[in-house]
Amino acid sequence: MPGVEGKVALITGAGSGIGRATALVLARGGACVVVCDINLPGAEETAQEVTRAGHRAIPLRVDVSQLDEVEQAVAHACAAFGRVDILFSNAGIAEQVPLLEMTEAQWDRMFSVHLTGTYNCFRAVLPGMLERNWGRLISTSSMGAMTGGVRLAHYCAAKAGIAGLTVAMASELARTGITVNAVAPGVIDTPMVRQSPERWVERMLKTIPMRRFGKPEDIAHAVAYLASEEAGFVTGQILSPNGGSRMKWC
Ligand SMILES: NC(=O)c1ccc[n+]([C@@H]2O[C@H](COP(=O)([O-])OP(=O)(O)OC[C@H]3O[C@@H](n4cnc5c(N)ncnc54)[C@H](O)[C@@H]3O)[C@@H](O)[C@H]2O)c1
Repeated sequence: MPGVEGKVALITGAGSGIGRATALVLARGGACVVVCDINLPGAEETAQEVTRAGHRAIPLRVDVSQLDEVEQAVAHACAAFGRVDILFSNAGIAEQVPLLEMTEAQWDRMFSVHLTGTYNCFRAVLPGMLERNWGRLISTSSMGAMTGGVRLAHYCAAKAGIAGLTVAMASELARTGITVNAVAPGVIDTPMVRQSPERWVERMLKTIPMRRFGKPEDIAHAVAYLASEEAGFVTGQILSPNGGSRMKWC
């Protein structure tokens, strides 16, 4: 298990799916976890799972699209555990709607949760990381940022924005001890995917060479590697665990 022992990890969207699995994996590796989600009961459930397993966690209700809420969460994290070493910006929403039927509010909401949410998280945790010359900024793009997706223009564009933000910030922070990377999951079996139309789910399965959806843990372990001490030379990368989905000849 890559080293995260003694680190403090703040994870958004940790009340469900990939975020919850990552909270559990990082906690098992010895990190304290700050479990943030707009859905407080979900965050509480994750934090209970972590503490029941004998590790340390606090749940917080946070809307990542609001900078003041994210800054308060970081202040809470520092009060509870002293600092934030690892950020996993992962909160997300999904909906499928053709561009011409999409309202401006739907477009804006997609960007405010994914892209502005990630920017808000970076802003809130960076000052402390810069003081200590150590940090791991990891965010969640999507394979869809590279492949596109029908009725997903706002989602794919926001996720592509996260990939661009990742590479830009990796350059900006290259000499600071802070690495910046993203995961770009393929289709992962979480509540977000289970709410998609059955026909879409069946079609997607056929496009995956491994003929299975990913498990939240498949992403959690990739995040744990990027968060680790051992990944100190890895920055500006978009790692896409996807069951081989981008290979052409399978
Ligand atoms: N599941 C997939 O196939 C897949 C593929 C590629 C990328 N992703 C991305 O992975 C991330 C996690 O998704 P998941 O599949 O675990 O979905 P999920 O629905 O299980 O979890 C998303 C979590 O984000 C929380 N959230 C939503 N809006 C929020 C906000 N404004 N502030 C704070 N929390 C908020 C939700 O309450 C939920 O707990 C998302 O960014 C998603 O876009 C998922």
